[in-house]
Amino acid sequence: MKRIVQPELLDEMSSENPEAVEARRDLQWVNWWMGHAAIFRSALRGAFSSPPKSIVEIGAGDGSLLLRVAQMLRWDSRETTVWIVDREDTVSAATHMGFNQLGWRVNVVRSDVYEWWKSRGAEEVDLVVANLFLHHFEEPELQRLLRSIADHATAFVGCEPRRSALAHFFARQVWLIGANRVTRVDAVRSVEAGFNETELINLWPRRPHWKLTECRAGLFSHFFAALKCPDRAPVG
Ligand SMILES: C[S@@+](CC[C@H](N)C(=O)[O-])C[C@H]1O[C@@H](n2cnc3c(N)ncnc32)[C@H](O)[C@@H]1O
Repeated sequence: MKRIVQPELLDEMSSENPEAVEARRDLQWVNWWMGHAAIFRSALRGAFSSPPKSIVEIGAGDGSLLLRVAQMLRWDSRETTVWIVDREDTVSAATHMGFNQLGWRVNVVRSDVYEWWKSRGAEEVDLVVANLFLHHFEEPELQRLLRSIADHATAFVGCEPRRSALAHFFARQVWLIGANRVTRVDAVRSVEAGFNETELINLWPRRPHWKLTECRAGLFSHFFAALKCPDRAPVG
């Protein structure tokens, strides 16, 4: 299946639009069905023995997935700061409170992700997370985004739709979980823009000292991780 990137309906709606509000709620269910919190939990448990001090989620939506992952990992830490970056601020009071209960400082940043990386200067973060976000972009933009991440982070994990016949079939059935018109359209477009094989590794900048992993995850998802390992031999 050739990769096709089309604009998603949710991205073109204001966060107050009732259909967008519903679609963001649908996304929580979609993440639940895809098992993304568990996929991130096992990847991050393996990569970090204690909570990272600085975490950025890009295209984070309402931030509820990252909160769930942090709670599953019991990442209580008064030393952690999180930046929740998205073009829309849809982070609820309950999600803010959830992060605060873990002891985290929360910054909700309403911005285009490219603009935000540009504004950050050279400051590094320990971890960047992306969920159902990378597939929004064509390869040149994606390559630029991954380069910014490699410039600014010591670890990156992402979970995306897998571009497969099985995922495509199930994306056409999301009405079964009560998904609205926006989610029904976007689910199919997301799979068509999703990834397989080593497509993300191929777009990651070729630099030494990064351990790269890309694989199928669960039934419908595609996982990518990049971890900086100073003592590792050059990749490729
Ligand atoms: C499919 S949703 C996923 C949201 C969230 N990660 C989740 O799993 O629920 C994609 C998100 O990317 C955001 N987005 C799209 N393009 C963006 C951009 N260029 N910069 C920042 N956010 C963007 C949208 O507002 C939306 O919240």
